[in-house]
Amino acid sequence: MHLIHRPDIVASEITPPDVYLDRRRFIGQAAAGAAVLAAGGLLDPRAARAATAPREKLIGVKKSAWTVPEALTPYQDVTTYNNYYEFGTDKADPSENAHTLKTRPWTVRIEGECAKPATFAIEDILKIAPLEERVYRMRCVEAWSMVIPWVGYPLSELLKKVEPTGSAKFVEFSTLADPQTMPGVRGRVLQWPYVEGLRIDEAMHPLTLLTLGVYGEVLPNQNGAPVRLVVPWKYGFKSAKSIVRIRLVDKMPVSAWNRAQPSEYGFFSNVNPEVDHPRWSQAKERRIGEFRKRDTLMFNGYADQVASLYSGMDLRKWF
Ligand code: MTE
Repeated sequence: MHLIHRPDIVASEITPPDVYLDRRRFIGQAAAGAAVLAAGGLLDPRAARAATAPREKLIGVKKSAWTVPEALTPYQDVTTYNNYYEFGTDKADPSENAHTLKTRPWTVRIEGECAKPATFAIEDILKIAPLEERVYRMRCVEAWSMVIPWVGYPLSELLKKVEPTGSAKFVEFSTLADPQTMPGVRGRVLQWPYVEGLRIDEAMHPLTLLTLGVYGEVLPNQNGAPVRLVVPWKYGFKSAKSIVRIRLVDKMPVSAWNRAQPSEYGFFSNVNPEVDHPRWSQAKERRIGEFRKRDTLMFNGYADQVASLYSGMDLRKWF
């Protein structure tokens, strides 16, 4: 995610993502030494603290058929190379800072165009549908990617509980914005709270995962605890973390990134190698842990499942 109007902009914001990533890998690897490299790579020594955070296994998780047969990105990288701007803009900031996030008590309010608006406690959200492990490809707009074993269930299972009406054309997700516990929210890198949106058919699509865990465990704070979205055919920023409110609405919501840079971040944000970001190509990507770049796949490789949602749409216009 790259904003150009900040005077205090960090290196990750202005350097092309793959160059930046290479440099960070080099620094991290040099500092961490061969033993850590063998264990999967440590991208920043400061992030070592993440490894000491308490980890909690999720029980009763079933493997899902919605899984790609690709090598998993190591846990270490999934949990220390993050975008979560409420905790800072550097990739290591979230794992360094998100220990202050309080994930209990936690509720998610669902309201708007529905028959039964309600507030759900996280304990109840955990029980709404069986937990599944799904290995998804994730592609960041910054042109790097990971393969992550998320745990959750389709968002549609939660939305059905409030009985969306025919006027519910879009879904807006708002996430926690607490200046007390989130240092980034005290700054103005984005307009808070972080807001994202999906069209209702995208939100109800079986691939759209209400995510409560990763690697068989409760989500680490830096990955969006206690509940986040994962939308694998869209750039990573659509996958809002630490959700507190969901609104069913009749108009297209304005997302935080779209508000910040409308020419760079459209509402749909489908992974599309043919539509470049105005400041870099989206044709290729660097899979974390690999040296050679891969070709980016249309809809991040999920075209068979989702292309029909966009038939007849000009995807250059609706980027
Ligand atoms: N959600 C919130 N609330 N704040 C953020 O800054 N960053 C997004 C997305 N969700 C973000 C967020 C971006 S840019 C990406 S790439 C993914 O989270 C990263 O998720 P991960 O760190 O679990 O891989």
